[in-house]
Amino acid sequence: MSSKIWLSSPHMGDKEIEFVTEAFESNWIAPLGPNVNGFEQDICNYTGIAHTAALSSGTAAIHLALILLNVGNGDEVLCSSFTFSATCNPIVYQGATPVFIDSEELTWNMDPEALETAIKNRLAMGKKPKAIILVHLYGMPAQLDKILSIASKYDIPLIEDAAEALGSFFKGKSLGTYGKFGIYSFNGNKIITTSGGGALVSDEKDMIDRSRYLATQARDNAPHYQHSAIGYNYRMSNVCAGIGRGQMLVLNDRVSQRRANYFYYKNELEGNSEITFLDEPSSDYFSNRWLTCILFENYEKREKIRLHLEKHNIESRPLWKPMHLQPVFTDAPFYGAGVSEVLFNRGLCLPSGSNLSVSELERIVSEIKICIQE
Ligand SMILES: Cc1ncc(COP(=O)(O)O)c(C=O)c1O
Repeated sequence: MSSKIWLSSPHMGDKEIEFVTEAFESNWIAPLGPNVNGFEQDICNYTGIAHTAALSSGTAAIHLALILLNVGNGDEVLCSSFTFSATCNPIVYQGATPVFIDSEELTWNMDPEALETAIKNRLAMGKKPKAIILVHLYGMPAQLDKILSIASKYDIPLIEDAAEALGSFFKGKSLGTYGKFGIYSFNGNKIITTSGGGALVSDEKDMIDRSRYLATQARDNAPHYQHSAIGYNYRMSNVCAGIGRGQMLVLNDRVSQRRANYFYYKNELEGNSEITFLDEPSSDYFSNRWLTCILFENYEKREKIRLHLEKHNIESRPLWKPMHLQPVFTDAPFYGAGVSEVLFNRGLCLPSGSNLSVSELERIVSEIKICIQE
């Protein structure tokens, strides 16, 4: 059996180990220290955002953003349906209800028309949504111009879930820096990783200061332990942040390699009438191509390829199952025409790691072609 090809595996550079060794040698084995500060500064420098808090996960970052927006019991939060559950679970942690918005076909992200319909409808029911969580899925920028103008028209704060989209840009500006808050994930499968970790970013200093306070158990400024708020243990460890510092040095290379994967698949497979790709809609959109995703004509053809790849030790995965179709969210409101459901039924994520070799890419493409011809 040929060796396993993973969907998206960690890819270390040369310097991560030096930052981690430094943490060991200086005994900064704690959820604070020079690597945490340095990593936060690296993220600010790369994205152009003013303030960053390095955290234990992207999920923690979304949770803190909702807390900082005072989302609480009985509130509603508008949220992309086509995403991973970590985007919307923190809404429920806060006792609030997610209102799911469908995708559009241009970017597969939140449909601005469905968003506005949802807002009007919720307002007519006397419920003003507390926030919008907009996901840039698979690294592709959403239609930010339209979403931002709706958010500002109705005065609803925007949280950008850019967990999969560090290294992606809209009109030359980093994703995650358009909303009141942005979040990134450094989970093991992401474009860069700290093994596990995340970041909350904002241009508002008081918000990020407050997030750091909440993320370190809400310790008041006193010699003893005193708390005037409920806190969380959400900070990133200085060891993990050391990995992050090394990874930031190779982020641009990782983006180039993932984009090269996309173009390799596209050149090899696009002539095939069974397969379609998601292009960047215009030069305003720059995707990091975290995962290359393709669409088949129907569910059966998608499954045939997925199972064939699995048999040949190649990991691929259906696109995210939309949240409004998840058993746990059957009662949540949903607005849209069902685009995300079609994407889920027909779409497949291909192996997309920046560490894939040419021969691995050739093997994947060759198995897809063999299977299509069968
Ligand atoms: C779209 C999206 N949002 C949120 C998250 C949560 O990030 P984390 O795993 O770091 O908690 C992830 C990934 O895991 C994700 O893909």
